[in-house]
Amino acid sequence: MNLFGYREGTFWCESVPIPQIAEKVGTPFYLYSKNTLLRHYQRLDESLAGIDHIICYALKANPSLSVCKVLADAGSGAEIVSGGELYRALRVGVSPGKIVYNGNGKTAPEIRYALESGILMFNVDSESELHLLNQIANELGCTAHVGLRVNPDIDPRTHPYISTGLRENKFGIPIEEALEFYRKANAMPNVKVVGIHKHIGSQIVDLSPFVESLQRIMLLVKELSRIGVHLRCIDMGGGIGITYNEETPPSFEDYVSAIKPLIKDSGCMLIVEPGRVIVGNAGVLITRVVHVKASGNKNFVVVDAAMNDLIRPSIYGAYHNIVPVEQSANCRATIVADVVGGICESADFFARGREVPELKAGELVAIMSAGAYGAAMASNYNSRPLIAEVMVDGSQTMIIRRRQTYEEMVSLESF
Ligand code: LLP
Repeated sequence: MNLFGYREGTFWCESVPIPQIAEKVGTPFYLYSKNTLLRHYQRLDESLAGIDHIICYALKANPSLSVCKVLADAGSGAEIVSGGELYRALRVGVSPGKIVYNGNGKTAPEIRYALESGILMFNVDSESELHLLNQIANELGCTAHVGLRVNPDIDPRTHPYISTGLRENKFGIPIEEALEFYRKANAMPNVKVVGIHKHIGSQIVDLSPFVESLQRIMLLVKELSRIGVHLRCIDMGGGIGITYNEETPPSFEDYVSAIKPLIKDSGCMLIVEPGRVIVGNAGVLITRVVHVKASGNKNFVVVDAAMNDLIRPSIYGAYHNIVPVEQSANCRATIVADVVGGICESADFFARGREVPELKAGELVAIMSAGAYGAAMASNYNSRPLIAEVMVDGSQTMIIRRRQTYEEMVSLESF
C-alpha cells in the first residue's frame, strides 16, 4: 500500500517523476510520500475505532520534523526514548498528553525535561529508574504518571537484534517480579501507577506473539486489580512488520481483531507505538550508479549511497528491493551482483548476490522500503555529509532536510 510506481517506464512518487527530483536535489536522497504516510496512519486509526486508544508514533523510526508534523497534524501522539525525541515531538506540536516515554537509560536531565513538559506516561524499565523518577518528581513538586515495562518472555520470531521481549533481553521487568514491583511503585509518594507496557520486538509478521504476550499481560492486570491497583492504560508497544520482500504481515484489521477481545472488558485505554508500519513503505532511498565492475567472477554495482546512509543491510542482513528508476524500452538482461556503497568496509552493501537488471553507470535506482530506520540511523562515517530528505505531496515536492555541507559537517568541531 504505497504511492510509488512506474508510469510509462519511469518511477514516480505520487504525481512527480523521480528523475525530476534527482535533477533538482542531486543524489543520493531519501524520498517520502506524504499521502502514503497519512494513509497508513489513518488506516490504523480507523481499524482501532471503537476502542479508546492513542496511536503514539515511534519517533525512532523516522524523527524528521516534517514526517512527525504530518502525523501530529493527523492527531498522532508520540513514543519517545530520549530528550531529543521529546524536543522533536513538542516542536511539531504533539500534545504532551499523548507522549509516552520509553527506554532503559533515561537520565536525570531527561526525566526532569519530560516531567516539566507534562507527558502522559513514563514506562519505567528498572527499580533504579523508579527511584530516580520519584526523587525528581518530589524535587519538582509533581507526580510522575508511570507504567511498568514488563518483559513477558515471548519469542517474537524476528531478527535477534530487534527482539526485546525475551527473558535474556535487557528490557523490562520479568513478568514474575512485576506484581512486587507494582506494589513498591504504588507506595511511592510522587509516583502514580497508571499503566503497563510491553514491546516484544520489531518487524513481527505473525499475530501469535502479540496475542500471547498480551494474554500474559492481561493476567497481571487482573491480579493487580485484585490487590487494588487499577490501571488506566495498556501499552502494546510497536512491532507490526511490513513487506520488504515476500513477508505477509498481519493487516491492521487482523491485528486489532486479535487483540480487541483481550482488552475489551478491562476498562483501560489502549496505546500502540507503531514506527515501521507507518513510515517504512512510505520512503525510498534514491541513489545513482557510479561504477559497474566485474571482479573475479563477481559483479559489483557501486552506488553513491552507502552504509552510512542506510545501515540495515549491514547490521541485520536486511533485504531491501532495488529497482531501476528508468525501465528500458527493451527488456533488460539481468545480472547477479552485489550492490555496494563507496565506504571502506566489506559490510557496506545494499544487496549481495542479487539478481538485478543490468545497470549502467549514471542511472538512478530506488532502494525500496527505506522510510523506517533509514535516515534515522544515518551517520557521517567516512566523512560523508548527511543526505537530503524530500517529501512529495501530490504534485508538490518539498526539500524537508537539505544536504549537509562539508562546512556544516565540521561545524561543531574545533582544532
Ligand atoms: N516501542 C518501543 C519501546 C520500541 O523499542 C520500538 C522499536 C517501537 C515502539 C517501534 O517499533 P516498530 O513499530 O518500528 O517495529 N533499527 C531496527 C529496528 C529497531 C526497533 C527498536 N524499537 C531496524 O532497522 O529494523
